[in-house]
Amino acid sequence: MFTTAFTNPKPSIPFDLFGAIAALKQELNAVILAHYYQDSDIQDIADYIGDSLGLAEKAAKTDADTIVFAGVHFMAETAKILNPNKLVLLPDLNAGCSLADSCPPEEFAQFKAAHPHHLVVSYINCTAEIKAMSDIICTSSNAVQIVNQIPQNQPIIFAPDRNLGRYVMEQTGRDLVLWLGSCMVHETFSEKRIVQLKIEHRAAEIIAHPECEPPVLRHADYIGSTTALLKYSQTSSSREFIVATEPGIIHQMEKAAPEKTFIPAPSMTNCACNECPHMRLNTLEKLYLAMKNRSPEIILPEEIRVAALRPIQRMLEMSLISSP
Ligand code: 13P
Ligand code: SF4
Repeated sequence: MFTTAFTNPKPSIPFDLFGAIAALKQELNAVILAHYYQDSDIQDIADYIGDSLGLAEKAAKTDADTIVFAGVHFMAETAKILNPNKLVLLPDLNAGCSLADSCPPEEFAQFKAAHPHHLVVSYINCTAEIKAMSDIICTSSNAVQIVNQIPQNQPIIFAPDRNLGRYVMEQTGRDLVLWLGSCMVHETFSEKRIVQLKIEHRAAEIIAHPECEPPVLRHADYIGSTTALLKYSQTSSSREFIVATEPGIIHQMEKAAPEKTFIPAPSMTNCACNECPHMRLNTLEKLYLAMKNRSPEIILPEEIRVAALRPIQRMLEMSLISSP
């Protein structure tokens, strides 16, 4: 049979992507939610930019019919768990997360079974299957407050990030059973090179995400989620900051305080491995195409979705209790 050599032509991308995306937003009654680690142009077109908690809260409240999620898979999945009847689009379905991948469901099920009396608190950076096995979800901005609300005599498993887990242990004085997962981006920072940078910029404050390893966190003047780091960089009287998290956040830091200087914390080598390779798979072009094609879409088995919803709702309730 005769087949044409041109079965898969390159999709045409309009010249004015911002305009084309705005038009599709109207057509789909869509909201664009973006994480701070996305490329600057994606941040600039988003309706809301935030950390994982802010994004989950926005997803829980939106009345849009379509959620375009510019972030990684577990974030879009959380939006779908909260909105089973909405179309949830992720510009690149391969935008995963090394931290979520470090906690395979079958192994975690065995780990959980070995600690039958423990409550499971899972960081939102995990798959829907792990969420479905959890009692409460947390994010980097509310992990300490959530653990503090759990009765002292209740043993707790904390998964999957060991660095955030250790930080929560330090802040709460609780003894948590940790799943030993980690994020490839936040483990790439070099303590030695950060200290060297600090010597060259003595007035600079080191601000760090709690997914960083303890030797880096020990040097930090301030530790917090991406939103907390952004707020701190605005309210602190310092004019210079060494930023130990994915450098995408610096776009908003510079926008909010153009008079201040933000230096990305260096990695072990001179690579760009402090940029999240998963987050950066999303591009403005792919975002446009996802909206145009109504695909790729997040789809979840209903049984997993329902089981994963309960601990997310628990987090949203507990966050309200702990917020001032
Ligand atoms: P937050 O958005 O909670 O600051 O977490 C950062 C992160 O690693 C997201 O993948
Ligand atoms: Fe996952 Fe780390 Fe990328 Fe966040 S920065 S999405 S935790 S790999």
